[in-house]
Amino acid sequence: MNPLDSNALVAVIGAGAMGAGIAQVAAQAGHPVKLYDNRPGAAAQAVAGIDRQLGRLVEKGKLQPDAREAISARLQPVDAIETLADAKLVIEAIVENLQVKQQLLLQLEGLCGQDCILASNTSSLSITSLAAGLQRPQQVVGMHFFNPAPLMALVEIVSGLATEPAIASTLYDTARAWGKKPVHTRSTPGFIVNRVARPFYAESLRLLQEGAADCATLDALLRDAGGFRMGAFELTDLIGHDVNYAVTCSVFEAFYGDFRFQPSLVQKELVDAGRLGRKSGQGFYSYAEGAERPPVAQLHSQASAERCVVEGHLGALQPLVARLRENGLAITERAGKGLLRIGDATLALSDGRLASQRAREDGLRNLVLVDLALDYQAATRIAISWSADTSAEARDQAVALLQRAGLKVTGIADLPGLVVLRTVAMLANEAADAVLQGVGSAADIDLAMCAGVNYPRGPLAWAEQLGVDYTLRVLEHLQASYGESRYRPSLLLRRCREQGANLHD
Ligand code: NAI
Repeated sequence: MNPLDSNALVAVIGAGAMGAGIAQVAAQAGHPVKLYDNRPGAAAQAVAGIDRQLGRLVEKGKLQPDAREAISARLQPVDAIETLADAKLVIEAIVENLQVKQQLLLQLEGLCGQDCILASNTSSLSITSLAAGLQRPQQVVGMHFFNPAPLMALVEIVSGLATEPAIASTLYDTARAWGKKPVHTRSTPGFIVNRVARPFYAESLRLLQEGAADCATLDALLRDAGGFRMGAFELTDLIGHDVNYAVTCSVFEAFYGDFRFQPSLVQKELVDAGRLGRKSGQGFYSYAEGAERPPVAQLHSQASAERCVVEGHLGALQPLVARLRENGLAITERAGKGLLRIGDATLALSDGRLASQRAREDGLRNLVLVDLALDYQAATRIAISWSADTSAEARDQAVALLQRAGLKVTGIADLPGLVVLRTVAMLANEAADAVLQGVGSAADIDLAMCAGVNYPRGPLAWAEQLGVDYTLRVLEHLQASYGESRYRPSLLLRRCREQGANLHD
């Protein structure tokens, strides 16, 4: 560990939401901090806001009063950029504009010492471009915090083409010393989080567009079965559709129109209509006074479920068997191909094929496909889909079986990979490509997705748990169904399958 000395002066430029949060983090870690903004009075206003935040922490008993005073004493708003000359680290969090940021860095290079680290909190601009044209581009590095900076643990340390590895390493150690969870990444579009998270939104938008279910139902499935804190529609309503759509467009364009990142017409419609989410009072949901969330679709069965047959190992669905047993079901186990039978119904974990296609190809009658859950013991809801020739009675029996395990059952249209499975497979696919292209290590990418966007499990760890082979098969089936390059599996998954290796190897 070689962090910056805590006596070193940290300068933060831009006293908006991010700059104020970053200044607070650095001051709480013991650094003297100067906060500068070119809007007169903005820095002083931000420091007063930080002081109020600290006051709230004191009220909640999370901060001692003398610690608050010490932190506030270390925070100094300044109105002249020249006063930052002694800084050992400058973090800029000004407007997201390449030319304006380049101009600022040029000015700082002339002002600050040779050894001063010039960090940018940019969420989408190239660190390589920001550093180009400077005398000392090796001093420039991305330090990408997440909003709100005092609460979110992740910091992406972004190296541009010229960034000196020792500088990136010092900043990484410094972020650690500040109580953060840093990850190393390279200056590529979206860095780690804003790239790997794209399928989380994209697959839900696609499912909605293709009539799988309504927003409230798809959100509930990602939460109650997938273990995600929020579904994609409630989350994008919170982020703001203008912001989320702009990030998708910028990543899509930066990858020269790679269809993997194709923006959604459904979301564009919302932006065009000014339905930006919570902040405008209407997004996918209404935030008007007294507005209620639409109900979540649910199937109910009156059929009885007393016994079932488990044929072979059910793959990721296997833990459901224990839950069925705990709920009093009589279970007969015999050899077979991973099927669960009750009455006339045959249940199986989805493998990414349409239910109707799988029923025909595998010669299965009354097929009901079950979605992936993060944890079949803890899940409260699960999605199913069924083949066109599945009888209503058989479907009813399948619902009764899952109900018996204490699960709410939601039926969705017959689309490949249901909801949680295709979302997780696509997240893992993007994460695998990011590893393959050296954007980050498998461990750092998983950490980034858990600490930066609160995923319940890293996408690569999740794929490994499901089996690389199975994850790849799901993606191959998705690609075969859609015939689009969007679903092409990452070469890393194929290589791991050929070599019998794991993604974290
Ligand atoms: P903001 O608009 O709240 O604050 C920007 C501040 O910079 C304003 O107070 C403005 O007066 C000041 N400013 C603009 N140009 C300046 C200049 N040339 N010199 C000095 N001060 C200047 O913006 P926000 O949301 O805090 O974002 C700042 C940066 O952080 C952007 O690069 C953004 O992409 C990035 N970021 C934003 C996140 C977010 O959730 N808002 C998350 C992570 C990164």
